Amino acid sequence: MSEDPTRTDPEAPELPELLRLREVTVRFGGLVALDAVSLTVPSGRVTGVIGPNGAGKTTLFNVICGFVRPRRGELRWRGRPLSRHRPHDLARLGIARTLQGVGLFPGLTVLENVLVGADRHARSGFLGDLLALPRADRDERALRERAMARLDRLGVAGVAGRLPGELPYGVRKRVALARALAAEPDLLLLDEPAAGLSAGEIAELAELVRGLREELAVVLVEHHMDLVMDVCDRVLVLDFGRVIAHGTPAEVRDDPAVVAAYLGEEVREPEVPGA
Ligand SMILES: Nc1ncnc2c1ncn2[C@@H]1O[C@H](COP(=O)(O)OP(=O)(O)OP(=O)(O)O)[C@@H](O)[C@H]1O
Ligand SMILES: [Mg+2]
Repeated sequence: MSEDPTRTDPEAPELPELLRLREVTVRFGGLVALDAVSLTVPSGRVTGVIGPNGAGKTTLFNVICGFVRPRRGELRWRGRPLSRHRPHDLARLGIARTLQGVGLFPGLTVLENVLVGADRHARSGFLGDLLALPRADRDERALRERAMARLDRLGVAGVAGRLPGELPYGVRKRVALARALAAEPDLLLLDEPAAGLSAGEIAELAELVRGLREELAVVLVEHHMDLVMDVCDRVLVLDFGRVIAHGTPAEVRDDPAVVAAYLGEEVREPEVPGA
């Protein structure tokens, strides 16, 4: 695919481009996990990435995050090439992600987990901590307040002192989201945020993601089609590492190539009984 199908959003051509992938190819041995994938992510939009299991969705996130180096192709962040970045550069760049699953540190409390996400904003840093400068105290307090505000926004401030293992799955997923937001990213990558949630929790998540759009760009990998159709502005469809469709939710839903890719795929039911 030589042209980037996502280059122009006819509904909002003026939106500034945050992230651009151009013909990104990733191989794992003989397997082509991503095959010349191009994608443009504008600010203020929710971009969906869907596709059957093994289509390459998480690999796409891993490329953006610097976990996986593409064999070919190019990434640009705010118009500049992004090639040698490492995962620990992400907070500074303004990119945050939630992991498929939950990915909290089991030995840290909920608040501490969120503080880990917020430390991009600690100004005095390690040296300040070492010398116990008053500045470090102030920063620590400000960080805690910011972390608590994030937990509060997600309705989980009440469990700030608990360990993740003590909490129900849906609550842990909210904490993981609070941690990603604590870094105040410009781009948020969500890998299957609805997996394992009840129908009510998914509706709340949809509301939240819609609200986030005012502040940042979101790329949403998700198998729950209702959520994708509900919150995404544009949707990219991958199958065996290749882009098979791109457009508005309604356009991709009715695309014969997308329907064919999903045929034979068991439609995933919510994993929480009674949902
Ligand atoms: N580190 C790796 N080493 C080897 N193969 C890998 C690696 N990571 C992913 N793959 C393979 O690359 C392909 C794409 O995997 P990926 O995890 O990106 O799919 P996905 O679309 O996220 O799937 P799912 O919906 O199941 O999460 C799969 O065939 C997978 O087995
Ligand atoms: Mg995945």
